[in-house]
Amino acid sequence: MTLWLEPKKLKQEQQKLQNRRFITFEGGEGAGKTTLIEEISHYLTSRGFEVLKTREPGGTPLGDKIRQLVLENRNEKISPLAELALFLASRAQHVEKVIEPALKQNKIVLCDRFNDSSIAYQGIARNLGKKEVEKACQFFSQNLEPTLTFYLDIDPKIGMSRISKSRTIDRIEQEDFSFHIQVRNAFLKIASENPQRIFVIDASLPKTQVQQMAIKKLCSIIS
Ligand code: TYD
Repeated sequence: MTLWLEPKKLKQEQQKLQNRRFITFEGGEGAGKTTLIEEISHYLTSRGFEVLKTREPGGTPLGDKIRQLVLENRNEKISPLAELALFLASRAQHVEKVIEPALKQNKIVLCDRFNDSSIAYQGIARNLGKKEVEKACQFFSQNLEPTLTFYLDIDPKIGMSRISKSRTIDRIEQEDFSFHIQVRNAFLKIASENPQRIFVIDASLPKTQVQQMAIKKLCSIIS
């Protein structure tokens, strides 16, 4: 492998890197990520951008199987480490087979949850260790960092009431209230440590206001 690139090539490579737009969406249960992703995707496609919408766990056939294992398995208690390993396996496959190829094709990738979820849920709320999980995330995602992350902040009381009205709740959503409060505090901590990357939106605001704020922020990085 040669490390030296002629100036023109180097410029092209830098340009390509600058154009990588990997946008992630984080939040507690019922924060409204899915609706926001739909809106943003619609906004971008109508303006001629190529968009890939994806999610974690999932995004690949293997990831979808892992999703079922980790969210639907209610008969066996899954250890926090096993849970982390499953999320990371899904992530590794997703990054290598789907996200990186899409970014190389200059698509804007919109991903529902990524490393910050593992750090908040497994690292902090499940007590596996923030630093340890951060390191594991870097390794399994091959150091892929989002260009921008929207964190939709919601009081778990409001969030949980939104989802329990609309559908049956999964294994992680079933955790007690204090777990969801820990998750929220964890996300707020991660956001405060990464102010350049993470844009916090108050998800209790009306949907249209949340969308406007997100699109305004997004425009500042895509134009
Ligand atoms: P999902 O149905 O996508 O939740 P939501 O609709 O709230 O986004 O389920 C994902 C669940 O998995 C959610 O409870 C968060 C959890 N999760 C982790 O605990 N760690 C992770 O690394 C990821 C990606 C998700």
